[in-house]
Amino acid sequence: MSWSMLLSLSNPLSPALHRSLTLKPTNYSVAPTACLNVDVRAPDSLLHETRSAEIIADEKKFIVGTYARAPVVLSSGKGCKLYDVEGREYLDLTSGIAVNALGHGDPDWVRAVTLQADVLTHVSNIYYTVPQVELAKRLVAGSFADRVFFCNSGAEANEAAIKFSRKFQRSSRPDEKDPPMEFISFTNSFHGRTMGALALTSKEHYRSPFEPVMPGVTFLEYGNTQSAVQLIQSGKIAAVFVEPIQGEGGIYSATKEFLQSLRTACDNAGCLLVYDEVQCGLGRTGYLWAHEAYGVYPDIMTLAKPLAGGLPIGAVLVTEKVAAAINFGDHGSTFAGNPLVCNAGIAVLDKISNPTFLASVSEKGQYFKDLLAKKLGQNSHVREIRGFGLIIGIELDVSASPLVDACRESGLLVLTAGKGNVVRIVPPLVISKEELAQAAEILVSCFPVLDQGTKN
Ligand SMILES: Cc1ncc(COP(=O)(O)O)c(C=O)c1O
Repeated sequence: MSWSMLLSLSNPLSPALHRSLTLKPTNYSVAPTACLNVDVRAPDSLLHETRSAEIIADEKKFIVGTYARAPVVLSSGKGCKLYDVEGREYLDLTSGIAVNALGHGDPDWVRAVTLQADVLTHVSNIYYTVPQVELAKRLVAGSFADRVFFCNSGAEANEAAIKFSRKFQRSSRPDEKDPPMEFISFTNSFHGRTMGALALTSKEHYRSPFEPVMPGVTFLEYGNTQSAVQLIQSGKIAAVFVEPIQGEGGIYSATKEFLQSLRTACDNAGCLLVYDEVQCGLGRTGYLWAHEAYGVYPDIMTLAKPLAGGLPIGAVLVTEKVAAAINFGDHGSTFAGNPLVCNAGIAVLDKISNPTFLASVSEKGQYFKDLLAKKLGQNSHVREIRGFGLIIGIELDVSASPLVDACRESGLLVLTAGKGNVVRIVPPLVISKEELAQAAEILVSCFPVLDQGTKN
């Protein structure tokens, strides 16, 4: 390894230097240091082009190629704006895939993180800490649940829910030789990429290279009440995993009737109902929990993405009857629920659970959906605009990728979903109506790019 490479690895830019470089792309107030790994005498424009291209080239060289990334190197953010290393500004309607609910650099979140980091970051779950217990208390107070298990991601939350479901079945049927150990999942579902969560994820393309995954999962049509009820009645099912609103799958919402039928069938069969609210939970729909829109409650709910405002966290919320089946040593994690992430989680939850905040999410979501319907409703490529709150999908008759690329080049970040033909919009929940109007304008102006594409 060369010295310049070593320097660049061991001496990353300080945030302050980074900001001064990114926000003043043509006028350095601070001379670049050796860690930039570029020729400091190069003209500014060339310097920046080189820097971005170099980082992308190094990523391709040093990082395992699991991500098809967009060619943007992001370096700072504030509110709903992101900035790349060349100083270009982007309006962020992705929130780090539905994570940064409070936007970037929310002052209360920053205070919670920096104060806690200064005092205590991590001690493991061998000891008690105040922020973990406080966050759990708040989650219980604001939900159907009696207890919380913390972990580090959405996939981990679902892994824990799988284990808890099986343990619940074993301990609630001590005399049965073969208690129900199987699971139901649905078409277009996404529950994560670890072996258990992957087994519950519908896209075959994600599962097949890694088979055998956890056996005993049956995929049924999302929304098809009859087939689900029939299988639940078989007595083989430990738990049904369902997203009240499917995110990755293409922004499909359940109906009240579907969830209610699952609830009733699960109750009759002694089977657990698990809601995966990793993407749709925590205020995104304008309700604190997406299932509140339906008034049908689960036995277990998994959370992750926005809970700590960008720090890695997962949580499994359970009723007392489920918690009663779990004993010391049944599950655990070294990092989970450490004081730093939990203090961040408290700042996020306190803000999002405020009824005025939630009402603003509903109102902005409706405003944006109406705006999109007005501007795009007649567009020949638009099949449907769906979702509610600030989780919105625009289904197209063609691949959404050219549109997403054109938007990015025009300073707007959006995601795809479903089979790649859905534009997924999951902005920070703090986004303003003005920003939404600006986003709609850019989106609409980029639509002509679809006329160069091919039909699905
Ligand atoms: C509904 C749902 N569940 C689980 C996951 C997996 O979460 P993670 O990527 O944090 O493991 C995701 C991620 O997109 C998700 O949308």
